[in-house]
Amino acid sequence: MYHNPVLLKQSVDDLVTNPDGIYVDCTFGGGGHSREILNRLSDKGRLYSFDQDLDALKNTIDDPRFTLVNQNFRFLENSLLMYGVSGVDGILADLGVSSHQFDEADRGFSTRSNAPLDMRMNVMQSLDAKRVINEYEEEELADLFYHYGELREARKLAREIVHHRKTKSIETTEDLKKLFSYIPPHKVNKFYAQLFQAIRIEVNQELEVLKEMLVQAYRVLKPGGRLVVISYHSLEDRLVKRFLKNGMFEGEPERDIYGNYKKAFELLKSKAIIPDDKEIEENSRARSAKMRTGIKV
Ligand SMILES: C[S@@+](CC[C@H](N)C(=O)[O-])C[C@H]1O[C@@H](n2cnc3c(N)ncnc32)[C@H](O)[C@@H]1O
Repeated sequence: MYHNPVLLKQSVDDLVTNPDGIYVDCTFGGGGHSREILNRLSDKGRLYSFDQDLDALKNTIDDPRFTLVNQNFRFLENSLLMYGVSGVDGILADLGVSSHQFDEADRGFSTRSNAPLDMRMNVMQSLDAKRVINEYEEEELADLFYHYGELREARKLAREIVHHRKTKSIETTEDLKKLFSYIPPHKVNKFYAQLFQAIRIEVNQELEVLKEMLVQAYRVLKPGGRLVVISYHSLEDRLVKRFLKNGMFEGEPERDIYGNYKKAFELLKSKAIIPDDKEIEENSRARSAKMRTGIKV
């Protein structure tokens, strides 16, 4: 199976309020969420789905109401304008990589298989994991390990990589893992997961593109339109939470003339929605999912 969709019913229940409306799925993947959105739409409804990965195009849906856009969702607003769409009723983003991307060993996302250091969701882009590991300055590596991998030993790890690559370039996931063979067995899986997460976020600029998409999503939504975001780690969820609360990512939110904070969205529920035990048991990828829904004020 290409990908088992997470929080499928809950997310589409939150998203679709107008069967005749125009909807966007920013992360098409295997198309699980997109198919469910189409199920809820009338003949007049429209769905535009985005994915930057060529592999996802194979899952396209043959339906006159549906358009698949092979584009990074950081170009949401302009891409929709190209289709003559300026206002939408709902936008869904189910962030991160698909199970297919993890399972395709040669793409280098998985900590379990040996593969070239790649980790690009869009294979047309030039920045890949090999360039990050072999060309970034020690300081840049340390920063990304610390901020994106939440690895406390970030400086030491960066120093070890830079020292090693002076004699031999680091080509594969196994080459990289070998540098840290001193990590005790009970800590090693978590360590590799954090290390790979950090590199993947950098290669795909995941936090920057998320911010760009959220800002554009606000502009593209009609008043009353809904933004539903499913995230899989705290770095993403923090950005989503702040944006839905304040319409910004950092700093003090603006106030109106009465001194009240200006709101960009009304939260549908005050707390994030997480999958129940049954879903987590059936789909381990659901384990870290958190969903938040905002209604544009
Ligand atoms: C978690 S999967 C989505 C799965 C999908 N909801 C389903 O039901 O099959 C994320 C997908 O979004 C794509 N993706 C991630 N970031 C993207 C971005 N910035 N622009 C476009 N597509 C992106 C990935 O290539 C991947 O196929």
